[in-house]
Amino acid sequence: MNDAVLSPPPPGTQGGPKVLLEVFGCQMNKLDGELVAGALRKAGYDFTDRDEEADAVLMVTCSIRDQAEHRVHSHLGELAVLKRSRPELAVGVLGCMASREGSALLQRWPALDFVAGTRDFPKVASLLDEVRADRVRLVAVDGDPRVSEERDLAVRPHRARAFLTVMRGCDKRCTYCVVPRTRGFEVSRPMHEILDEAKRLVDDGVTEITLLGQTVNAWGRAFGSSLGDLFHEFERLDGLRRVRFTTSHPEEMDERLVAAMAACRKAGLFLHLPPQSGSDAVLRRMARGYTAARYREIVQQLREAIPFVQLGADIIVGFPGESEDDFELTYQLMEDVRFSQAFVFRYSPRPGTPAFGALVDDVPDDVKRARLATLLDLQARLASERHASMHGEVHEVLVEGTSRRDSRRMFGRNLAFDRIVFPGDPSLVDEYVHVRLGESTALTLAGELVADPAFAG
Ligand code: 5AD
Ligand code: SF4
Repeated sequence: MNDAVLSPPPPGTQGGPKVLLEVFGCQMNKLDGELVAGALRKAGYDFTDRDEEADAVLMVTCSIRDQAEHRVHSHLGELAVLKRSRPELAVGVLGCMASREGSALLQRWPALDFVAGTRDFPKVASLLDEVRADRVRLVAVDGDPRVSEERDLAVRPHRARAFLTVMRGCDKRCTYCVVPRTRGFEVSRPMHEILDEAKRLVDDGVTEITLLGQTVNAWGRAFGSSLGDLFHEFERLDGLRRVRFTTSHPEEMDERLVAAMAACRKAGLFLHLPPQSGSDAVLRRMARGYTAARYREIVQQLREAIPFVQLGADIIVGFPGESEDDFELTYQLMEDVRFSQAFVFRYSPRPGTPAFGALVDDVPDDVKRARLATLLDLQARLASERHASMHGEVHEVLVEGTSRRDSRRMFGRNLAFDRIVFPGDPSLVDEYVHVRLGESTALTLAGELVADPAFAG
């Protein structure tokens, strides 16, 4: 079975046709998957996590790197075989790959019945109805940029945690990135709509909301608002305990947001602030709009204003023209900033991006791999050091689930988004507990439950 399948499947309409819904890629896609599941449920569909049982297989897809698309293509290959014995099975590709390739996907895969782009999720149920009734093949890739967020609370996967989209699309033009093409221009949702949705979520038991946007810290700019204004509103929302947000763009850090993060108790102490590279020459070719020095300055300002803030990185290695010296500068930046977590990717040329065709993918794959391994080693060392320095501290943890490695241990996250493991049982999921940190590795922080320090003698 594929790890992208929603498991357990969302609650559906008993007896309705069964959909296997697979979600690949980012958090935005996970939330899109929930929206699609809600619309399907409303239209009378049920869900399954098994190929053999499914009347339809739908995939919410990601185009960010070649590898992500590759997984979907290989699954389409498997489904083509399955469909020989089960011709009535309906297959749909939704989201980024559908937006990027449209009808070309249908041409390549005769077993595929329909594609629906990132702005066409509201139509998915009617497209599927039509495909099943008339055996037609359909393409929907020109939807409204302001996809309405009619949310079905019954399909939320976690009781205490929820994502909330505050903006869609991206107005940046980072030269490696396919997102502006697949998700289109930036549109911020109005504040009242966001607050209404947040209230509905909190009334339904949510205590932690993660605000999503491709450049989430640019939210509201078009109408003179700042994400910081939202934090102040959330601070007054009874029942809500934590607000996270992702992903931020260094160029979009504004003072109101920083001040709000410093002032609001519920604001998560974590910023995913991808530098992508530490070399000015590479940053220029990526069209990121800042230099490494400016990035360091932003980090310093953040740390001065918000003492316990932690930072997360995305780094691309092997971008066209990246020399050993350029790479060394990225290494330096990571060593100096000391991110609490870092994702490192090998550059993957994406058709339709400004870099594609214009810049030669000239860093050999073995060099990319070696650079990636070097940065992961560095990150492991930095994380181990940081984790070791935290022993003895007590952290409030929102419990997320049972540890995959050891079923007698649970895991959750503190306000700074560190993953923390402790002995416990599943009754603690969605609760807030306090953990005294005692052991750690590069990847985990572990400790023992302690009584809430606020009530301790
Ligand atoms: N190749 C490699 N990594 C990429 N990313 C985006 N586009 C590409 C690409 N073409 C990375 C960036 C981004 C993260 C989500 O994926 O680091 O921040
Ligand atoms: Fe892609 Fe850059 Fe927009 Fe992020 S900010 S989605 S990397 S174009």
